[in-house]
Amino acid sequence: MEQETLKELLTECLRDLYDAEKQIVKALPKMVKAATNTDLKDGLASHLEETKEQVTRLEEAFEAMGETAKSKPCKGMRGLLAEGSEALSEEEPGAMLDLAIIAAAQKVEHYEISGYGTARTIAEKVGNQKVSKLLQMTEDEEKAADSKLTDVAFELYDSQEMDNSDEEEEAEFAGVGRKSSNGGAKGKR
Ligand SMILES: [Fe+2]
Repeated sequence: MEQETLKELLTECLRDLYDAEKQIVKALPKMVKAATNTDLKDGLASHLEETKEQVTRLEEAFEAMGETAKSKPCKGMRGLLAEGSEALSEEEPGAMLDLAIIAAAQKVEHYEISGYGTARTIAEKVGNQKVSKLLQMTEDEEKAADSKLTDVAFELYDSQEMDNSDEEEEAEFAGVGRKSSNGGAKGKR
């Protein structure tokens, strides 16, 4: 494939991520406000600050590509955030709401990890080390944020001493697995 075509593809990826990150900057404060657990609240608040830096980092990547920073509406992220806020509205404050927030936030993180992974690979293929490094930095932050969310989920499961035998709704969140890299059904231990 021609290098120019790949560069165009990379620019498209950056535009998608740029829009996605900006949507997250708007959505995170609601999640911070809704969270009850202190670790979750603090974790989301610090990820909000991190996300603002990720927006700036994408602007640096555009610059390194010789492109102006432009957004392309990211429908995937819009859908994930809409679903998340719907789930949040269905729970009363407390552990169940916290778990709903974690479930929504992890879907967002995984979407981002995938998007950054693809963009970073293309940056490597076109030999743009600067862009590749910038994208890798963010990808690492998203992975760390995802793993922190898994830790808080298990903290919540432990503190609630949840009894899986009679609470059907708890099963909904059993997919948040500590060992799973994709939030798959490995939640029970
Ligand atoms: Fe992000």
